[in-house]
Parts: sequence; structure tokens; C-alpha cells
Amino acid sequence: MSEDTAPKKELAAIKGTRDILPGEVEKWQALEALARSIFERYGFRELRAPIFETTELYKKSTGETSDVVTKEMYTFEDKGGRSLTLRPEYTPSVVRAIVEHRLDLEGAPMRYYFMGPMFRYDKPQKGRYRQFHQIDIEVFGEKDAAVDAEIIEMAHALLGKLGVTGTETLINSVGCRAGRPAYSAALRGAAGLRRNELCADCQRKAETNPLRIFDCKVEACQEVAKSFPSIQDFLCDECREHFARLREDLDVLKIAYRVEPRLVRGLDYYTKTTFEIVTSHLGAQNAILGGGRYDDMMKDFGGPDICGTGFAMGMERVLSVSALTPPVRKMLYLAYLGDEAKKAGLDLARDLRAQGIECLVEYKDRGMKAHFGRANKLGAAWVLIVGENEIKAGRFGLKDMATGRQFEGSREELLALLKS
Ligand code: HAM
Repeated sequence: MSEDTAPKKELAAIKGTRDILPGEVEKWQALEALARSIFERYGFRELRAPIFETTELYKKSTGETSDVVTKEMYTFEDKGGRSLTLRPEYTPSVVRAIVEHRLDLEGAPMRYYFMGPMFRYDKPQKGRYRQFHQIDIEVFGEKDAAVDAEIIEMAHALLGKLGVTGTETLINSVGCRAGRPAYSAALRGAAGLRRNELCADCQRKAETNPLRIFDCKVEACQEVAKSFPSIQDFLCDECREHFARLREDLDVLKIAYRVEPRLVRGLDYYTKTTFEIVTSHLGAQNAILGGGRYDDMMKDFGGPDICGTGFAMGMERVLSVSALTPPVRKMLYLAYLGDEAKKAGLDLARDLRAQGIECLVEYKDRGMKAHFGRANKLGAAWVLIVGENEIKAGRFGLKDMATGRQFEGSREELLALLKS
């Protein structure tokens, strides 16, 4: 777009958001279709929740000490004076929906997936947007580590189909509420010893929730965090055993992984398993997906005591490293010549579309040469010629643009040919 036709700054798209235009959107559609087909094979069903929720929902689940809640939420007051937030993640909405509709009483597997936009006010950079998109999956009511292993394997199945290479799977256990106080105390002690080397934010985190120091993006803080005690040494027997079983089940599924004791993930709700799949092809924002178990969230919402586990994949990130090629479109360009032919073309186009054929008619009077020039430019697979002679004879010309071959036939004959 040239300078003078670009929209005024105040009308331009918001920083950190982007348009997904035709030409690119086909890749998104192919990713969505593939994800759906894979998830449904594992017993997942789609659950669509609203794009905004009460601010309280995220404070209570994502967590008052997480970066997402303290710094990144798009929160606003609506005209009724309620504090609402554009969802920064999907997990809390699913839990809320289950409690609200008592989906746990329906007896169906509680396995849900969703795809859509999320909103976080972070500094935009490559792979990090303010409106970004996630593919999210969640499983409820299954405590067994096998389900954590299965969803990690399902993520691998999807990434494999997308042709994503060079990935590494990181796993950890962040334990449960039984072991957390002792670990927090140990971290607070370790952070206290090196307080002066930590940024102001981490000094505050050392008091509120020292686990969150691991999320800090400041390099010096990351260095200090390397010297902190490992959460693996603070797991209770049940959590240690759960983690051992996760490892065994990943081995059964032949998923290679690395245990990363600093992988506590930036959200407050995790218990036991956490995991991420990262890739060397993405630069600083290297996580394609992240997830884990959150066994207390539903109970904390005042709902039934049902555990949960899941992950979310960043769609922008995965598409930037995927080798996915959208299916080739076969478009028919209908070229009409004259007013009568335009009417016949309108009618014919409707029939073709009803038969599942992609048919484009542009209602601009053109000569034959201009029609072919346009069809070529659009990459049309076929050109159907409708002129007055064709209408009289009830026979039409069809050109295969790839081979240059010409056919002539009745409506029915050409339809049969196009569908073959
Ligand atoms: P998360 O790690 O915050 O987890 O986000 C998951 C993925 O979303 C990241 O790995 C990344 O690919 C993508 N992502 C996050 N923020 C941005 C951004 N600003 N721009 C582009 N992509 C981004 C969650 O959201 C949890 N709800 C995952 C989960 C589901 N845990 C259990 N169930």
C-alpha cells in the first residue's frame, strides 16, 4: 500500500494485532481442520466459550501472582460497572463452563478442544502478539499420569502432521499443595541470599510467590534462578510417583523428553505435571505449546473436586515453523460475453456451486481476451465460456488452463467432466 492510501494512524490496526488475509488464511484453515480431525480421534469435542469473562475468574485461576494477571490483562469496566477481561487464556473458561452447566453429570468424556483468539498486553515482538490464537485442549476427571502422556503424544501427532521438526519436549512436576510451602520457603531463602542480584519485580515475587521468579525474562534473574533448589527434591510421595509414571508412559509412547526442573510455567494453577514443546527454529519465543495438570482449579471455583490437565498451542508460532501446504483450490472462472450470457451465467454458476464446484463470476463486462487474462492472473483451473451462440446451442466451451485442452458439451456433460 502506498503512503497516501494507508489508513490514518488512528485508524490502523492496533499494535500487536494483525490481519490474516486470503493467501495466508488457507494455512490457518488447514491447521484448524487437521487439529479437529486429530483431536476428535482421541475423543475430544469442541467447547466454545465467550471471548470475555469476569476479571475475577482469571484472578482466581490464572493467579494473582502470575505475570498474565499482574501485567498483561485487557481489563475494562462495562457500562454496567462490571470489571471484565478479554480472555488471556482458555483454561479458566472451560472450568467455569463445566461448573456452570454441570457437564460432569452428563457422563460424556470430559475432553474438550477449542481454537480462537486470546489477548495479552505484552511487548510485541516476533512470535509474541497482543491478540494471538491458541488451539487449546483440556481433559477432566482423569488423575492418571497416562492421560498427561497421551495428550503430549497427541501434540506430537499434530506437530508431526504439520511437518514441524527440531522440537524438544520438556517436562517437570511442580508438585501439589502439600509440598509447595516447603519449596516456597526454600526458594525464599535462596532468593533472599541473592536479593541484590534480582530485579525489583523478582524481589517482590520472592515475598509473594517465589516460584514466579522462574518466569522472569531478565537474564540476570534467570542466572540466579539456576542456583535455586530443584522442585524435584520437594515432591511428596504421591507426586514423585505420578511423575515416575508419566516418564514410563512417555517411554511406552516413544516420546523423547528432557526433565527441566525450572519449568514451573507462568500460571499459578499447575499441580504435578508441567510440559512444553519448544523448537530451535523460533528464536526467543521458542515455546510452540505449553500445558500441565491443574487438579485444584475446579474445587477452588466452588465446583466439584475434579482434576484437569491440558495444553495450548500458539497458532502463529506453530504456523511459522510448519511445512503445512493447504490443499490446492480448483476454481472455475465463468466468462460471459454480453447481457444475455450474463443472465445465463448467473443461473449456470448457481448450478455449478450447488454441485460443489468453486465458481467465480466477476460482473464486469469484458471481452474474451480480457477474460482469459484475468482467469490466468487468478490461477483459475478452468474457464467456462458462455456467449450468445453457446446459449442458443445449449453447448458450452470449457478450457483446462493447466493443459490448454478445450472441451465442448452440454451443461450436464461439462458438469460430469468437472466432477470427475
Ligand atoms: P501458555 O504457556 O501461557 O499456556 O500459552 C500457551 C502457548 O500460547 C504458548 O506456548 C505460545 O505458543 C502461545 N502464546 C502465549 N502467549 C503468546 C503471545 N503473546 N503471542 C503469541 N503466542 C503466544 C496457557 O495459555 C495455558 N492455558 C495452557 C494450558 C491449557 N494449561 C493447561 N491447559
